Amino acid sequence: MTVREILKMGDARLLRMAQPVTDFDSDALHLLITDMLDTMRAANGAGLAAPQIGVDLQLVIFGSFERNPRYPDRPTVPPTVLINPTITPIGDVEESDWEGCLSVPGLRGKVPRWAHIRYTGFDQYGDAIERTVEGFHARVVQHECDHLWGRLYPMRVRDFSQFGYTEVLFPEIAANEDD
Ligand code: NI
Repeated sequence: MTVREILKMGDARLLRMAQPVTDFDSDALHLLITDMLDTMRAANGAGLAAPQIGVDLQLVIFGSFERNPRYPDRPTVPPTVLINPTITPIGDVEESDWEGCLSVPGLRGKVPRWAHIRYTGFDQYGDAIERTVEGFHARVVQHECDHLWGRLYPMRVRDFSQFGYTEVLFPEIAANEDD
């Protein structure tokens, strides 16, 4: 069990286009995922992308592995390991909602995302994943996969009057937060 250091915004490694995973069901891949789970749990994150711990691979984890004090009222998302993902919007409806990011500690911003998406990819064993989702689940997937294309959520904020410090915007959440 290893909790890895989470890179913060400003680190050039967060801006890369990540490389596809080619070797599934390997010891190295399983170890990396264990470290990512430990790191996400320790930080009470809703998700984590490999580039956030400096690993240049198209691998994200997200979902409710257990109750998350950072998002106590959010609907649950199935715990997922998603590799080499693609995202396709369904329709053109966007929704804006608040997001935070372990690489942007202490801040929240309102971010527009596709309301409905279909996403595909593989799990750690190389088995295909294909889901059609909406709402918070769709938001989490778009946020995490953005890390694989070198995008952090502040790059998608359109209205900077809705971007600020968690402790000011949401004092009740900030009390539960590690970052
Ligand atoms: Ni993030």
